[in-house]
Amino acid sequence: MISDSVIREQLTNVLDETSFAGIGEYEKGKVRDSYKQDGKRIIVVTDRISAFDCVLGTIPFKGQVLNQLAAFWFEKTKDIVPNHVISIPDPNVMVVKECEQLPLEFIVRGYITGVTKTSAWYNYEQGVRNLCGNPLPDGLKKNQKLDHPIITPTTKLEKHDRNVSKEEAIAEGLIDNDTFDEAADLCFKLYNYGVEHAAKQGLIFVDTKYEIGRYDGKLVISDEINTPDSSRYWYMDTYQELLDAGEEQRKLDKEYVREWLAAQGFIGDGEAPVLTDEVRVEAAKRYIMAYELITGREFVVTTEPVDERIEKAVQSFVV
Ligand SMILES: Nc1ncnc2c1ncn2[C@@H]1O[C@H](COP(=O)(O)OP(=O)(O)OP(=O)(O)O)[C@@H](O)[C@H]1O
Ligand SMILES: [Mg+2]
Repeated sequence: MISDSVIREQLTNVLDETSFAGIGEYEKGKVRDSYKQDGKRIIVVTDRISAFDCVLGTIPFKGQVLNQLAAFWFEKTKDIVPNHVISIPDPNVMVVKECEQLPLEFIVRGYITGVTKTSAWYNYEQGVRNLCGNPLPDGLKKNQKLDHPIITPTTKLEKHDRNVSKEEAIAEGLIDNDTFDEAADLCFKLYNYGVEHAAKQGLIFVDTKYEIGRYDGKLVISDEINTPDSSRYWYMDTYQELLDAGEEQRKLDKEYVREWLAAQGFIGDGEAPVLTDEVRVEAAKRYIMAYELITGREFVVTTEPVDERIEKAVQSFVV
């Protein structure tokens, strides 16, 4: 595992924003910068971190961790579910097929948890016993495993995510029955594979969010998959003990940063606190640990200036 001092030295060698000329139409997401060409999208995964729907600053190595984790899962699952990957020319860059994104995000949940208003546990505590068309029994505890995984879609193109059932999504004209079923099938396959692989690594793959797109008339999995930004992972060895004691799980996702923000009194409204160097180093360590635990591979640190390295890598995509 990489030492604190190596991370500390990279606190200023981070990828915040990019502005590459000639490689396509620029589109800025919260975490990723995209450059769109005919039929192709060059996704540059920056080191920006977002929580509670706000961009908060940068975490060293975060872009590399997320891109390489997504790449790992896309490679592992490519024979089960077709995906959008064309190539990975740099640790922070993924070139993908430009898809027509479905207007829903598919959240697959194997456990009942969460704190935000769209989360399963928040709704359950408020008395909801049917979440997006999935009946939930009485008497569940926070973080308890569900009888079987469920899908709770949210709308993608609105400012704040909104939970919808399949029936509502169809009635609102967002999707048709067959497309929904086909997309849900892809999501369950990916999630189940993730659960099996994570278990071998001593981890529980709790829940995750998928984006599905259409390319050449076919549904493919797009965006990022099974990363600590789009998923929750818990440690398996302490799961039962902590559940029985009514305590929180040990987490391997970006909850660390959310909890620090909440302790500073920030849960999305007002001005976000500035992340301290200490928090940035600790968050970087956790992202790298997530990479190593999930993949079973050693994280390879590169210390040359990250923006220059990427600039060189994307030169071959100048149109
Ligand atoms: N193959 C693809 N075709 C078209 N769009 C894609 C594809 N893969 C990913 N995208 C889009 O690229 C963007 C990636 O940027 P990013 O995830 O940072 O943005 P965001 O969705 O605004 O932020 P957040 O995920 O934090 O809500 C998303 O809008 C995603 O839908
Ligand atoms: Mg996104």
